[in-house]
Amino acid sequence: VKFGTEISREVAPVRKVAIAGFGTVGQAVAKILSERYHERFELTHVFNRDVARKRVPWLSSLVQWTENFDDVVAADVDVLLELAGGLEPAGTWVRRALESGKSVVTANKQLIAHHGPELIEVAQAHGQQLLFGASVAGGVPVLSGLQQGLAGDKLVAVCGILNGTCNFILTKVERDGAPFSDALAEAQQLGFAEADSTDDVDGFDARAKLTILSRVALDAAVAPEQIACRSIRTIQSIDFEYAHDLKCTIRQISRAEVNGHALAASVAPALVPRTSPLAAVQGGQNLVVATGVSGGDIVFSGAGAGGNPTAVAVVSDLLALSAANRAVISPARPQSSYFVAPDFTTAHYVRFTVSDRPGIIAAIARIFSEHEINIDAILQKPGYPKTNLPFVVTLEPCKTSTVERAVNDIAKLDFNVKAPLSLSILPR
Ligand SMILES: NC(=O)c1ccc[n+]([C@@H]2O[C@H](COP(=O)([O-])OP(=O)(O)OC[C@H]3O[C@@H](n4cnc5c(N)ncnc54)[C@H](OP(=O)(O)O)[C@@H]3O)[C@@H](O)[C@H]2O)c1
Repeated sequence: VKFGTEISREVAPVRKVAIAGFGTVGQAVAKILSERYHERFELTHVFNRDVARKRVPWLSSLVQWTENFDDVVAADVDVLLELAGGLEPAGTWVRRALESGKSVVTANKQLIAHHGPELIEVAQAHGQQLLFGASVAGGVPVLSGLQQGLAGDKLVAVCGILNGTCNFILTKVERDGAPFSDALAEAQQLGFAEADSTDDVDGFDARAKLTILSRVALDAAVAPEQIACRSIRTIQSIDFEYAHDLKCTIRQISRAEVNGHALAASVAPALVPRTSPLAAVQGGQNLVVATGVSGGDIVFSGAGAGGNPTAVAVVSDLLALSAANRAVISPARPQSSYFVAPDFTTAHYVRFTVSDRPGIIAAIARIFSEHEINIDAILQKPGYPKTNLPFVVTLEPCKTSTVERAVNDIAKLDFNVKAPLSLSILPR
């Protein structure tokens, strides 16, 4: 048997597919299916609210356009592509589809982060599959890469840039010295950020993706609420100036690391050494570094969002589902319960903004020393008014929770004119 010949001779049956949610991703998926896979997949239903305004001339006239999900459940559809988003009613649609004997492919990170394990159980109970490759890092095949490509390793850490909006905004503040609010407004104008930017900017979008990554890569039974999550809103252009002096930049970093029975996991802005592949990530790109005991660091990167890249991930899951040998199965429900803490041990950067007077450095040094934290360096740029004076203290490696306690104590002192900002510095 020549390698490949047997497989190509097998004719997979035409599979009937329904799309729920005909927006950016749903339309891009329909385009790819109609242009490249119309002999393999038959798109039978497009479900959306107010569906009349969604009709497009480029889909077969046989497609049934519906705003009643019961039509999809009742039809002999093999696979539902859930591309609407949100927890509900998408969760109910996915459950009903699985219970009525349809496999599901979804791009919905919030649904999978919050209800993935129980939905996988529903799928398994009904002999169906639930795939969600598009839910993390858009078009970058990181979940399948972790699940299949790195199955032979024992992964102990994942670290990445998972939110293109945050990356766009931080890159903008860095390059133009723009205030955060201007950078956010531009991101919204250009369509990189939603009108309500909370999910992106305050870390909830990345936290959902990190939850899924932690389950798939680290087998960790973790819920999104267990992962510490900090906003990028507090980052100012002065922080980039100090970061550059420290040969670093600042990015929103999502990371999870197994250490014995503990899982340290957080989403937060952090200083990233300029030599790290994470520092080179621009605009809406995503990048994930997976660390294995045997294979070391493996990097996945590419377009983290956008209709077409995300649609590629959805169609790839659909193809995997319909492969004759069914080699790909739903990711297993995670097994390992770890104690979850936001406690990485790293060096830290703390920016203070004070009304200057004698004794400030002594007071700060005393509180750090009470918490057994060693100061590494003090940096102060000239040219700022004495009444609003920023300076930075870097700290030798210690637990983030210890630094937070010390900084909370310092924040109570009357010389602060702004809340201090503490950030981890990723190791070189
Ligand atoms: N866009 C990306 O780059 C990207 C990347 C990765 C993952 N994703 C995920 O992919 C999914 C879809 O994202 P998208 O960007 O394509 O969103 P979108 O453009 O807003 O499309 C969502 C579609 O679903 C429909 N819909 C939403 N709620 C509905 C409801 N309750 N009943 C019926 N129809 C409903 C919307 O109808 P209306 O037109 O009436 O609103 C819209 O047509 C989300 O889970 C998202 O997180 C997106």
